[in-house]
Amino acid sequence: MVRLNKDENDMLNGKYGKGTQTAMKIQVAIAEAFDAPYMVPISKAHVALSNQEADLWFVETLVSQGAKCRVRPTVNPSFNWKQMKKITTLSQEDEEIVKRTDKAYREIGALMTYDCTPYLQLNVPKVNEVIAYSESSATPFVNSIYGAKTNRESAQSALCAAVTGVVPYYGYLDKKNRKGQVLVNVLTEMKSDFDFQLLGYVTPLKVGFKIPVFNFKNKIDKKHFSNASLMNLGAQMNTSGNVAIYHILGVTPEAKTFEDAFQSENIPEIINITQADFDSVRDKISAPLGKIDFALFGCPHLTFEQIESVVDIISGKKLAVPLFIMSSDPTRRLCEQMGLLKIIRDAGGEIISNTCMDQPCWKFLYGKKGVTDSPKCAYYTRRRKMEFVITDLENAAYSALKGEVTDDY
Ligand code: F3S
Repeated sequence: MVRLNKDENDMLNGKYGKGTQTAMKIQVAIAEAFDAPYMVPISKAHVALSNQEADLWFVETLVSQGAKCRVRPTVNPSFNWKQMKKITTLSQEDEEIVKRTDKAYREIGALMTYDCTPYLQLNVPKVNEVIAYSESSATPFVNSIYGAKTNRESAQSALCAAVTGVVPYYGYLDKKNRKGQVLVNVLTEMKSDFDFQLLGYVTPLKVGFKIPVFNFKNKIDKKHFSNASLMNLGAQMNTSGNVAIYHILGVTPEAKTFEDAFQSENIPEIINITQADFDSVRDKISAPLGKIDFALFGCPHLTFEQIESVVDIISGKKLAVPLFIMSSDPTRRLCEQMGLLKIIRDAGGEIISNTCMDQPCWKFLYGKKGVTDSPKCAYYTRRRKMEFVITDLENAAYSALKGEVTDDY
């Protein structure tokens, strides 16, 4: 039975209203499911709102019961209906759900950031900070790169944590559960952030959901060891698998040495990842090279540097197919301020802020073939009958200029 302090008991007994009570009941049920001995306070939260009916029902229920967040969470993208309306026709029903979702999350006290990379600019935790994060690239990034402590929360459990300000103490909050379980020797050269996408996708296919400790055998150029690379690594590990934390030997804070990373001198399991693994997974998940109808980048949201690299390629030219770049609102504004947005528009592209590719606003692309740098984007859109050639961002930008993906390595 989880031990609760006075304030937590008051929440559970309804002193702060029915909404907080509901959130606390859910937190207690999670605590009991995982044998958590007590609750611990959180200082940050991120809610991966999905803008879908079940998610909306949950937040509206809490709001109708008077819940308010003690810790204001940032939120995932939904879709930017004002921007998307300039590109396509939206159904009234889809627009309605977006507006209701926005209203409910505002009322409960969320920060409406609509960004799936909040850990890069708006919601950045420190080492050992206990937080409640959902979102597939966010959870591994904050655990692994910053050394903050979160379980892989769902949108709903993260919202309950934001309302109550506490989480049950279990799982990755406990140091002993954060130790590496398999040494992954990466024998291939990591030449771009796309290689990190492939590494992220391949790893769970080879080791399951164990905590990997990456050991890069070849020196990586600093420019390829970027935030974008690490964001891609985590995002893809949670597309082909479920990996809330990883370590990189000599790089991440809990893996300065082998002993650090494994919390022991013993390495339980060792595997190698080679270029052949990258090639075979890419062949499996990518549509064949050839003509494309559009280009879609930004799953997860592109960073300013990534957008700059696309602009370098398309500047002063005309795109053969429409290019949509998804990013956060602050990044889009920076691009506007720096003149990048104008260059993209002049070429025939657009930066769409606050939007996820897994949303009904992309219906006009269903049945079409595009190019992307993200295996996650290709994976999620299969159910929406979209097809993607997957290649590195640079080649994807060249392909948008040609209207065709011809060569990718
Ligand atoms: Fe972000 Fe949506 Fe992709 S939340 S990572 S754009 S699936």
